Amino acid sequence: MRYTGLIEKYKDRLPVSENTRIISLGEGNTPLIKLQNIPKEIGKEINLYIKYEGLNPTGSFKDRGMTMAVTKAVESGSEAIICASTGNTSAAAAAYAARAGIKAFVLIPEGKIALGKLAQAMIHGSTIIQIKGNFDDGMQIVKEIADHAPVTIVNSINPYRLHGQKTAAFEIIDELGSAPDYHCLPVGNAGNITAHWMGYTEYCEIGKSKTTPTMLGYQAAGAAPFIKGSKVENPETIATAIRIGNPQSWDQAIKLSKQSNGWFDAFADSEILAAQKMLTEREGIFCEPASATSVAGALKDIKSGKIPAGSSVVCTLTGHGLKDPDTAISQCDQSAMINVNPTLDEVKKAILDNM
Ligand code: F0G
Repeated sequence: MRYTGLIEKYKDRLPVSENTRIISLGEGNTPLIKLQNIPKEIGKEINLYIKYEGLNPTGSFKDRGMTMAVTKAVESGSEAIICASTGNTSAAAAAYAARAGIKAFVLIPEGKIALGKLAQAMIHGSTIIQIKGNFDDGMQIVKEIADHAPVTIVNSINPYRLHGQKTAAFEIIDELGSAPDYHCLPVGNAGNITAHWMGYTEYCEIGKSKTTPTMLGYQAAGAAPFIKGSKVENPETIATAIRIGNPQSWDQAIKLSKQSNGWFDAFADSEILAAQKMLTEREGIFCEPASATSVAGALKDIKSGKIPAGSSVVCTLTGHGLKDPDTAISQCDQSAMINVNPTLDEVKKAILDNM
């Protein structure tokens, strides 16, 4: 049967009816890739999987939430949506609004969103409002705007967003036959970790899995409110997607972390970039910096034994590496590029010298 998106596939478990007009770009159904080289390299018996959410239509997991949020906005008669964003939500909002034929307004922190995401918001025709402030400032304004303008908020405080995103947990259980022992996620606003826990517990309740995973939330050290135990005023990290100091799903994340016996941890930008590079060079998987935080965390905890040998572990790679080409290129050694004349001899020499 032709795959037509996650609402159609999981409609029995989502707040839609037969009459709902579904706004979809075929999101979801992303690959669960078992890592081969990295576990060998670190010498640990571990079943380590990547849920490659960068392969969604706009290149991030946000499409799961946005198909639901925009579907419900249109169903309620809304003609415009709005979000604050570190980039990916704005890209998804812009694309799904275009698909639905409604307007999208996106508030982004000036100069702090990755190039690919900005390109997406622009090319899909959204109205971009740049603010001289960070994501948290934008979020504050968006929360108040609904009283002043006829727009539907599509940030993860919109409950339909989490319903869409919980389907990632359904897919993992459908594929593995049960929940993994551990699920690792990068945490910014904490919507996605909340949505995953919702998905796992729902599937457990209806007997699709006997267990739920231990939920591990990893942050960037410069934007780590869950480690600090309170808001961070001026969050800073190269992983701009998770440059957030005041997570909107704070209470839910603290609760699910306790319920699942999970924990939070934080990583320096250098550790995040090292994990990103390791995935690209050893496994052929390219994710954006924020996404690699989940792998930085998993590897630390696997190496220390906090995640015991023999466990099954899923790391969500939330966004595609092409979202942030600048950071990728700046990590690579430019002098390693070989410039030659277009002759057989010079190209042959370049190959043989580098075998
Ligand atoms: N990874 C990526 C690539 C993201 O874009 C985000 C959030 C997260 C992780 C964190 O997810 O907020 O649910 O804990 N990006 C939002 C945005 C804030 O505006 O695109 P979270």
